[in-house]
Amino acid sequence: MSEFGNNEHKIYQGDAIKVLQNKIKNNSIDLIFVDPPYNIGKDFNGRKDKWKTDEDYLNWCYTWIDLLLKKLKKTGSLYIMTSTQFIPNFDIYLRNKIEILSRIVWSYDSSGVQAKKYYGSMYEPILFCVKDKNNYTFNSDEILVEAKTGSKRKLIDYRKNPPQPYNTKKVPGNVWDYPRVRYRMAEYENHPTQKPTKLLERIIKASSKKGDTILDPFSGTFTTSYVAKKLNRKSIGIEIDEDYSKIGVRRVLEQFKLNGEDLRPEPKTYQIKKIKQQTIFEAKI
Ligand SMILES: C[S@@+](CC[C@H](N)C(=O)[O-])C[C@H]1O[C@@H](n2cnc3c(N)ncnc32)[C@H](O)[C@@H]1O
Repeated sequence: MSEFGNNEHKIYQGDAIKVLQNKIKNNSIDLIFVDPPYNIGKDFNGRKDKWKTDEDYLNWCYTWIDLLLKKLKKTGSLYIMTSTQFIPNFDIYLRNKIEILSRIVWSYDSSGVQAKKYYGSMYEPILFCVKDKNNYTFNSDEILVEAKTGSKRKLIDYRKNPPQPYNTKKVPGNVWDYPRVRYRMAEYENHPTQKPTKLLERIIKASSKKGDTILDPFSGTFTTSYVAKKLNRKSIGIEIDEDYSKIGVRRVLEQFKLNGEDLRPEPKTYQIKKIKQQTIFEAKI
């Protein structure tokens, strides 16, 4: 296991269960976002995302879920994801241990591979849970969205005296539309299941305060820690893969060299084309 960072932003490169057991204090975390391997066969830099049996996968998940619940403060919130196949198991497991307040659907434009003989997956589920439904952070004002009334003119609330236009802002519902991270997007990193910063922004703004500590035990490209830092929260990120952890060192700690290695990402193919064109142009003049 390796550690990087400081008291504000910590990166652990190692196994989530071991780091949770040995490095994270009980009742110390305000917000947890968990986006684990989904057991659907993705390739995480050579590490398989497929367990021998569904039962093996779920037992592994239940081990870290129990640990996460210990780490969460009494006033804390947990957002947890997995594949559509396994979210029912998570839901049933969690509902006896914590309050599930929302079952969120993160809906996106198109699936990578188009299914031909069944309906392709166009969403990922997220459970929003709190330890104490009478005492938790929810900054509704920070995440308001424009209400789509379908009306061209402003609707007037005649129950008010004098009548006033309806408030056009509302707390978002439980279907969230955000595009997936694509190669050409500025935030893209080399990882198969990177989550969009917009998704984490909503979660962190709603469910934490400035200075709070946010934990992500399967950090991937460290989107959670990156957004937490931008929003003046503290972060703890865990990731088993060395290359992905280096993305975190660059993205979160803003460190561009590690033991002599350059951590800056490779230029993208279309950027290389542009650089080549520029060089040819400059050579001509
Ligand atoms: C679904 S991805 C997370 C993506 C992340 N939310 C992002 O925005 O980039 C799951 C990550 O868990 C990591 N992982 C798999 N097994 C792990 C383990 N035992 N401990 C810590 N990380 C692990 C994988 O390498 C992968 O990067």
